[in-house]
Amino acid sequence: MSLASGPFSVDPLSKGGARPVKVSGAISFNDVLFAYPTRPDALVLGRPLERSGGGGQRRGFSLEIKAGETVALVGASGAIKSTGMQLLLRFYEPTKGVVALDGRDDSKLNVHWLRSQIGYVGQEPVLFSTSIFENIARGKEGPTLEEVQATARAANVHEFIEGLTDKYETNVGSKSCLLSGGQKQRIAIAGAIIKDPAIMLLDEATSALDSERQAQVQAALDRLRMLSKRTTLIIAHRLSTVRNADSIAVPQDGCICERGSHAKLISGSSSVYTMLHDQATACDGTGAATAE
Ligand SMILES: Nc1ncnc2c1ncn2[C@@H]1O[C@H](COP(=O)(O)OP(=O)(O)OP(=O)(O)O)[C@@H](O)[C@H]1O
Ligand SMILES: [Mg+2]
Repeated sequence: MSLASGPFSVDPLSKGGARPVKVSGAISFNDVLFAYPTRPDALVLGRPLERSGGGGQRRGFSLEIKAGETVALVGASGAIKSTGMQLLLRFYEPTKGVVALDGRDDSKLNVHWLRSQIGYVGQEPVLFSTSIFENIARGKEGPTLEEVQATARAANVHEFIEGLTDKYETNVGSKSCLLSGGQKQRIAIAGAIIKDPAIMLLDEATSALDSERQAQVQAALDRLRMLSKRTTLIIAHRLSTVRNADSIAVPQDGCICERGSHAKLISGSSSVYTMLHDQATACDGTGAATAE
């Protein structure tokens, strides 16, 4: 049996599907199996139970995130952290099992509506070839320059923008405007913040920043979390950015193998999290949480 879902099974322009009026932001992955369409036989989410005598059965990926909770995904490279977010955004459909928002199967929701509830900053942020203003403003309908500037301040990118000749009108696609990865990320973060979504997904959103800038962006994100209790799923390689999460989930071999607070996980001497922490600390002392 092929484990993959259809490559283009999600139509982003579909008019169908429910658009609930109220969103709390609870997320759940219920017994999800998933393989990428290009590698239909390689199970990415879920794992075979053969080793424990499962007779070809599979254990699905399950994860519960309460509304307003901040959960950090910490795991080795390739441990399905980004894939989990892509399923949540419905870039792919699970082969089996359900991803749900507020208890509703998200395949029954309108896909455009679903994505409008989620702020997403990816590992390699993509900016549109237009002005910085437009890139930040597209998260909201018709924001004023003052709103865009306030958001840029919160993402610690306002000063940088003000230092450019054309300021907020600078075209990020022009050859004269070469942005570093960190500058792009902060603009993308500002775009996610102005949306004020029920759910925020941050995939290593601060990894391309130097430690000083990272601390500033992290402080801004923490502040925003305090102001608005939104559900946040964060993937970060640095432990310093995940210590304050309500809980940490550690994916391994297609499933979550550990879950708990930093203090709880670090006290278990045999935990994967402790191993990642020790390796990272031994490598460079920064507490980068991913073993690569
Ligand atoms: N588009 C794709 N097509 C096929 N396989 C993929 C694709 N994207 C990821 N994978 C595979 O899925 C698995 C999980 O990848 P994923 O990107 O979710 O890992 P990750 O935990 O985010 O890793 P990293 O910390 O390096 O970003 C890996 O084995 C990867 O090779
Ligand atoms: Mg990733």
